[in-house]
Parts: sequence; structure tokens; C-alpha cells
Amino acid sequence: MATKSDETGDPMEHRAFFGRRRGKGLHKGQKALTADLLPKIEITPDDLAAGDVRKSFLNPAAPLFLEIGYGGGEHLARIAAERPDDNFIGAEVFSGGIGKMLEKIDAAGLANVRLFTDDAYGLLTRLPEAALEGAYLLYPDPWPKTRHHKRRFVSQTALDALARTLKPGAFFRFATDIEDYANWTLAHILRHSAFTWPPVAPLAWHAPYDGWIPTRYEEKARRQGRSQSFYFTFVRQPDTGLGAKNT
Ligand SMILES: C[S@@+](CC[C@H](N)C(=O)[O-])C[C@H]1O[C@@H](n2cnc3c(N)ncnc32)[C@H](O)[C@@H]1O
Repeated sequence: MATKSDETGDPMEHRAFFGRRRGKGLHKGQKALTADLLPKIEITPDDLAAGDVRKSFLNPAAPLFLEIGYGGGEHLARIAAERPDDNFIGAEVFSGGIGKMLEKIDAAGLANVRLFTDDAYGLLTRLPEAALEGAYLLYPDPWPKTRHHKRRFVSQTALDALARTLKPGAFFRFATDIEDYANWTLAHILRHSAFTWPPVAPLAWHAPYDGWIPTRYEEKARRQGRSQSFYFTFVRQPDTGLGAKNT
């Protein structure tokens, strides 16, 4: 649990993880892929400690993008297939999601994706500075109860870690169907010196990103009557320190 960071200096200990790691169990094909394919494409904490993980991609110089909490992998698999000249890291903790993503990587022969199977925050704190051209956080767990808001992925600490790993000018895309989480994220972004929210026309944030195909979670939200989402694109500012804005 995450409270000892000041004593140990381990950045992973800045926060606890409250999500689900295991579900009903993997089916046979997913188990086989977890045994055979995952070790070939997984980024482990040891890999991160050993050096620059960009070198382990087939094309180490290609632009690198991160998707945090890819769920069933619909978005990550699609963009990786559409953009073979970019590299992607997917971070997901839930075994069922990892199993589904492995199936998609295997079926489409995606050679430009690597997976991190633990809390994405631990990846962000260990990637080289300014390694990423963009990051996606699509429908993060909403933690709707007020007493659980501090469990949300978006926090000052996570934004600090994102700001460190994103290149100046890189994007951070955040989508949610929960208005309270949209407001929460905007408030954090507007307070953070390293991010800007480029002006968009009022309500334009309800328009999906170009080429968007609904993720599994978005489809679930629609089925449950949440008919509208927020699709934000923030930009990592050049030449700013980290932390809260002074003004
Ligand atoms: C509500 S689901 C959305 C999944 C997918 N993005 C979608 O739109 O269908 C949130 C996902 O984020 C994953 N997740 C939550 N916290 C995470 C973290 N700190 N690091 C990596 N994955 C995380 C969960 O396991 C879950 O699969």
C-alpha cells in the first residue's frame, strides 16, 4: 500500500491501487497466449530498471504512445493496426482485459505493441523523461462515491508523472461518460502548469475524436442510458516546471 514513499523513495509507493486484477478466469486460448506471447512483449519492472524500453521495439526510433487502462483493447488494437509506424505501450491490470488484448495482438499480428501488466502509474514514473508523443486515458474507472474520488487515476501526482513522460507538445486524451469525472479532470488540468486545454467551441467536447469507434465501456454506458461523453485533448506545455500553477 502506498504511503511510505517518503521513507523508501520508491515512486510506486505514492499511491495504492484499488481496481480489480482478476476476473472469472481466462479461457484456454488466452491462457496459452499468456504463457507464450505475453513474455515476449511484456514490459516488466526489471526491463524499466534496466534501461530505455524504447530500444526493445522493432523500430526503436518510432514515436511512442501509451494507453492507460485499455480494457478489452478495442481502441489500442485499432490504432496500433492503423499506425504500424508508431509504437504503443498498453497498461492494464485486469487479467481478462490483458487476455483479450493478447488475442487481438495475435490475431492481427501486431508487432508494434508492448504490454505493462501493473498499475500504469508505476510505468509513468519509470519511463524516460519526454519518451511519449501522446497518452490515452479512455473511460477510466469513475469511482463515483465522493469518499472514493481520491482513487481516480487523474490526480496531481499522476499528472506530474504524465507531464514528465510526455514530450512538450504531446497530447493527453481523456474520455469519460461521467460529468463529475470530466469536471474533476478539467479542474486538475487547469491547475497544472504543465498542461493546457486548447480552446474548443462550447460543447465540441461531446464530439468523439476523429476515426473514433466506441470502446466496450462506452457501449456499456450507452446501454445504461448515459448518452453523452466528454472527449478532451490536453497538450503538454513546453518549458514549464511541474506542479500547480502560481496564478
Ligand atoms: C472502466 S474500464 C475502461 C476500459 C476501456 N478503456 C474502455 O473504454 O472500454 C477501466 C480500465 O482501466 C483499468 N485500470 C484502472 N486503473 C488502472 C491503472 N492504474 N493502471 C492500469 N490499468 C488500470 C481497469 O482494469 C479497467 O480495465
